Amino acid sequence: MNDRTALVTGANRGIGRAVAQELHTRGLRVVVTGRDGAAAAAAAAEIGPRATAYRLDVTEPGDVEEAGKQLAPVDVLVCNAGVLLDAGTDPLGAPLDLVETTLRINLLGAWRVLQTFLPPMIERGWGRVVLVSSGTTAEFGGALFAGAPGYSLSKAAINGLTAMVAARTAGTGVLVNAVNPGRVRTRMMPGQQTPPEVAARFIADVATLPDDGPTGHFLTERRGSG
Ligand SMILES: NC(=O)c1ccc[n+]([C@@H]2O[C@H](COP(=O)([O-])OP(=O)(O)OC[C@H]3O[C@@H](n4cnc5c(N)ncnc54)[C@H](OP(=O)(O)O)[C@@H]3O)[C@@H](O)[C@H]2O)c1
Repeated sequence: MNDRTALVTGANRGIGRAVAQELHTRGLRVVVTGRDGAAAAAAAAEIGPRATAYRLDVTEPGDVEEAGKQLAPVDVLVCNAGVLLDAGTDPLGAPLDLVETTLRINLLGAWRVLQTFLPPMIERGWGRVVLVSSGTTAEFGGALFAGAPGYSLSKAAINGLTAMVAARTAGTGVLVNAVNPGRVRTRMMPGQQTPPEVAARFIADVATLPDDGPTGHFLTERRGSG
């Protein structure tokens, strides 16, 4: 993978930063993006010499369009940026302004980045796309987690988007999968035991799948759901 370049959204901290670090350790060039350019630059400087920083707010169409012009094509895209804003609410009481912001970042932000960076991958006939989802999505036979309804629906929609985009890219050399990183200790989930580096190894595996790897799947680490 030494000639490959990866772009990670929300990579200034948390799981995204750990994924950028892991991919860098595996020999890829990494573009560490974050909506705060200084924070992205600080993370990239710590990650290593093949890491560069780029300011990217996934909700800003102008930012994403400019990023496409400056950075595409990339070989690996990890759509990680996300927020959990409505924890502790329920579907009947969830403040819809928070739900709207959640969908704008978690779903539309990832979708916008995909629309920009995926076509050049298809053109080149090779690419790996990972959408960071969650275990709140009812994929394991339970109910959608109703204790953060906007968040859960945003991630269920990410899984649906993954399936649609994977069907659209079938046979092109571009593999598109969603992952459940499990519960990980970050600013989003400060009470968890597992450090982000553990989830990052799993996500990096999915981001570097071999050519005969799966596409359109929702992959989860065996240690549990998040
Ligand atoms: N932690 C868990 O247990 C867990 C479990 C399941 C899924 N996940 C998913 O894993 C992903 C990473 O979460 P995390 O736990 O690492 O949380 P985190 O530490 O809160 O990190 C979230 C990242 O997303 C960025 N972000 C938020 N809005 C953005 C925007 N508009 N444009 C660009 N970046 C934006 C944040 O940037 P700022 O620093 O600027 O805010 C930050 O870099 C999320 O998609 C989350 O849903 C996490």
